[in-house]
Amino acid sequence: MEKVRQFPYDFIERVIITQEEIENRVKILGETIHHDYKDSERLLLLGLLRGSVVFITDLMRKINRAITMDFMSVSSYNKSESSGFVRIDADHKTNIRGWDVILVDDIVDTGYTIRTVQKLLQDREPRSLKVCALLDKPDRHKVDIKIDYLGFSIPDYFVVGYGLDYDEKGRNLPYIASIDLNKGQD
Ligand code: IMP
Ligand code: MG
Repeated sequence: MEKVRQFPYDFIERVIITQEEIENRVKILGETIHHDYKDSERLLLLGLLRGSVVFITDLMRKINRAITMDFMSVSSYNKSESSGFVRIDADHKTNIRGWDVILVDDIVDTGYTIRTVQKLLQDREPRSLKVCALLDKPDRHKVDIKIDYLGFSIPDYFVVGYGLDYDEKGRNLPYIASIDLNKGQD
């Protein structure tokens, strides 16, 4: 008899954050940002490719004001191990001098990526610079960083879905799921 597949990828272990929980949280984050930036004339959401794409596009539609979106591409990661080395692959286009910038990423793990990009952006003299992340793994931090707008704090699992990938797979899942690399191999 053919096995019924619960998930579209063999390596998925279980759902840890549902689609509904994400929707509710993203709505609150958007409303909070909307409120906090009432006095801002130029607000830019600056996403890190590619993990933040799903999150940023949902988030921006919950912020009911004039807003600009831009992206940077950085790489620090090889499959599931952080290298601690961050390379800028593609820079943003907007001249951020004098802008209120919110740096948006999918997940903070060691914190190297956010810290490196934060330093780089600070030198470009934005009016303000804050950090927004969908997920945080506080047990994994190797550097001290402040996340101003956080979706969820999670234990030290490797997760996929809602933009996050394992080896480029799983970004299309509408929930966040933990993975088990031994699964599906028997
Ligand atoms: P950091 O520089 O160690 O904080 O790594 C951050 C980057 O690693 C994130 O932007 C993700 O691209 C990737 N990453 C870290 N943990 C996970 C995970 O559990 N699933 C998918 N990607 C992850
Ligand atoms: Mg990333």
